[in-house]
Amino acid sequence: MKVLLVGNGGREHAIAKKLLESTRIKQVFCVPGNGGTATTKGCQNLSLNIDDFQGMERFVMVNNIGLVIVGPELPLSLGIVDYFQQKKLMAFGPTQAGAQIESSKSWAKQLMLEAGIPTPKAAVFTNPEAAKAYVVEQGTPIVIKADGLASGKGVTVATTVKIAHSAINTIFRGEFGTDNIRVVVEEYVTGQEVSILALTDGITVEPLLPAQDHKAIGEGDKGANTGGMGAYAPAPIVTPELMERIQTEILEPTLAALQKRKIDYRGVLYAGLMITDEGELQVLEFNCRFGDPETQAVLSLLETPLEDLLLACCKQRLGDFAEIRWKSGAAVCVVLASGGYPGSYEKGKTITGIEAAEAKGAEVFHAGTQLKQQQLVTDGGRVLGVTAVGETFEQAIAKAYEAVDCIEFEGVYCRRDIGRRALADKS
Ligand SMILES: Nc1ncnc2c1ncn2[C@@H]1O[C@H](COP(=O)(O)OP(=O)(O)O)[C@@H](O)[C@H]1O
Ligand SMILES: [Mg+2]
Repeated sequence: MKVLLVGNGGREHAIAKKLLESTRIKQVFCVPGNGGTATTKGCQNLSLNIDDFQGMERFVMVNNIGLVIVGPELPLSLGIVDYFQQKKLMAFGPTQAGAQIESSKSWAKQLMLEAGIPTPKAAVFTNPEAAKAYVVEQGTPIVIKADGLASGKGVTVATTVKIAHSAINTIFRGEFGTDNIRVVVEEYVTGQEVSILALTDGITVEPLLPAQDHKAIGEGDKGANTGGMGAYAPAPIVTPELMERIQTEILEPTLAALQKRKIDYRGVLYAGLMITDEGELQVLEFNCRFGDPETQAVLSLLETPLEDLLLACCKQRLGDFAEIRWKSGAAVCVVLASGGYPGSYEKGKTITGIEAAEAKGAEVFHAGTQLKQQQLVTDGGRVLGVTAVGETFEQAIAKAYEAVDCIEFEGVYCRRDIGRRALADKS
């Protein structure tokens, strides 16, 4: 089978490499892909835009592609899966209606309230003055969220009224879109965040291994938020008992609420949760796709062929799987970023040492890289995800950093404490 994979991040490189482990997968075409997918045997990049559905359709028809896999939220929210479904072509991911669970935080909040899913109290405003008055009434800390897709930049955890008001002003200035502007003002909760990526075919929902990511740029979770500086799985804080509760209190009721809205949701349902110190679950958000960099860690441990699972979601046959099989042990993904990220940074720096890193037993997934005149160069803020599997977290962490130390490019930065929280949670 040949696959068309939409996206250009570390997540997509990890998905492509996982698929190619199977002898059934002949070739993976990436739209537009990155330096990693350009150099992986069996992968090929196509110079099409991720919103060029017609161009992709033409390629799929001419090349007899069996499955389209959509990585990022943007094409999902633009209706790429609806488009392919209308053409009777198989595409993995929710429809535009389903993708609203990520593309509109107010829509998701309403769904959660109706379904009785534990989530922080919130109010939705279309008027900035009303939102500001509510902030004053509630007090701080408080969380201000832009309603639509904002590439991870739409949420402010405000410690003062002034910060909250300024975040509201930014949203209503149209920073995250000018159509139908809304803001969600949400109660602040504390605890540990976990990412639960689940697969669903619209009938059954099957969680993958629980993961945690490290969003802040600095060690000890200090500094600005990023797209994610690393991840690990399985997160020890999610005990089997807690996983059972996540299944029955969150995943199943969410799917039922989607069904009630006549949404046939097939794809990844990703719950971003806070586990409070009292052991309470709180859903902060849902995403409609694989997480990045959680996917790099989680897929490294997957044993069941990925294409079987994704096809089962598309064909409503996920219930056929008695269980999803996993390797034992732990996986850690350390992100190497460009100096200056998440602020401004330079691109085009020569990358060396990837082979040496992989010789240490790690796998290097590319994110912001590009192949330029046969030379691999940096092309984004998050450049590489160095991922290692070990029998224990100690081993996985040691192996990942040994590999990290082989790689060089000008300005390279990484956090040195990825996965350390897992060690603390275990003891
Ligand atoms: N209610 C909340 N209480 C405390 N922190 C929150 C809350 N909601 C979000 N956050 C923090 O903000 C981050 C981003 O919020 P999230 O809803 O996941 O939006 P997005 O991923 O779209 O930026 C979360 O990962 C979490 O660290
Ligand atoms: Mg989030």
